[in-house]
Amino acid sequence: MGVLSGKVAIVTGSGRGIGREIALMFGREGAEVVVNDLGANTDGSGGSKIADEVVAEIKKAGGKAVANYDSVATVEGGQGIFRTAIDTFGRCDILVNNAGILRDKTLYNMDEDAWDAVIAVHLKGHYCCTRPFARYIKDTKRLDCRIINFSSVSGLFGNFGQSNYGAAKSGIAGFSRVIAKELAKYRCTVNTISPGAATRMTIPLAEARGQKVDPSDDTRGPQQIAPVVTWLASERAADVNAQILHVSGGRVGIMQQPAVIRSFKSEALWSLDQLNQAIPQLVEAKQANEARAKDAGSPELMPPQ
Ligand SMILES: NC(=O)c1ccc[n+]([C@@H]2O[C@H](COP(=O)([O-])OP(=O)(O)OC[C@H]3O[C@@H](n4cnc5c(N)ncnc54)[C@H](O)[C@@H]3O)[C@@H](O)[C@H]2O)c1
Repeated sequence: MGVLSGKVAIVTGSGRGIGREIALMFGREGAEVVVNDLGANTDGSGGSKIADEVVAEIKKAGGKAVANYDSVATVEGGQGIFRTAIDTFGRCDILVNNAGILRDKTLYNMDEDAWDAVIAVHLKGHYCCTRPFARYIKDTKRLDCRIINFSSVSGLFGNFGQSNYGAAKSGIAGFSRVIAKELAKYRCTVNTISPGAATRMTIPLAEARGQKVDPSDDTRGPQQIAPVVTWLASERAADVNAQILHVSGGRVGIMQQPAVIRSFKSEALWSLDQLNQAIPQLVEAKQANEARAKDAGSPELMPPQ
């Protein structure tokens, strides 16, 4: 008995990279898996049936899986992916919104196509795939479902040359916080991953910085993300909701969420002189808070179990 026995899961973009590792682990843990992938290049162009290879691997290991080649970026695609779960397995419990592309450019050179394509796959993609699942949860009163979304340090911290991707990934964090509240009534949890893994999406960037990358290293490759996503999808994670977990370099951490950390109140309209006093103190408080968080966030070694 695996931790996901009896569960049906959709993993978008699971033909390769992080998604593939999640689909394979879900299969090993007993889930019936919809392997969605349109087999695109990193920039979203092209297509192939790579999802079939992952389905074959899951089946060879004794699991159950079906391929779907729809795009997450359209409403019809999102509905098609969800229908594949219902038509094949008769139900759905878990959705992992992992599919993604990149079109990096500084804003000076960011044409409308590069902006629209990245927003469509990531931010709209989360909407297109999550809405049919959310409607199903509400209409059938299905309890204890799981949604796991994919953000990025690009959206949470900011990254040069990725205003389209960063905006989408930050939007996904906001989307997740809202739907976590909306679906709580049905005990559905909605958590977000901020991953760091050696895949075709990141290897060229790392190599350009002169870093050596080995995707087969269990603390660097895409396989390090799968256990955390599997844990979040399991029954054990029932009380973990609306969190952002950062998983990278063999490390699992929890992200601080937006919060007011210091404030001043004025009983009349703020004067510019008051703001001259208040805002530098607020910025200082923020910097001190960041330094504390950086310190508290350094990893502690976890003994093997
Ligand atoms: N690798 C990292 O370090 C890293 C860092 C931050 C965030 N992420 C995010 O993690 C997720 C997985 O990234 P990865 O590194 O495995 O990338 P990857 O390129 O290896 O895999 C992404 C998969 O998504 C598929 N895909 C693209 N557009 C699609 C669409 N419209 N519909 C269906 N499938 C589509 C691709 O065909 C591909 O197989 C992405 O959301 C990415 O933005 C990755």
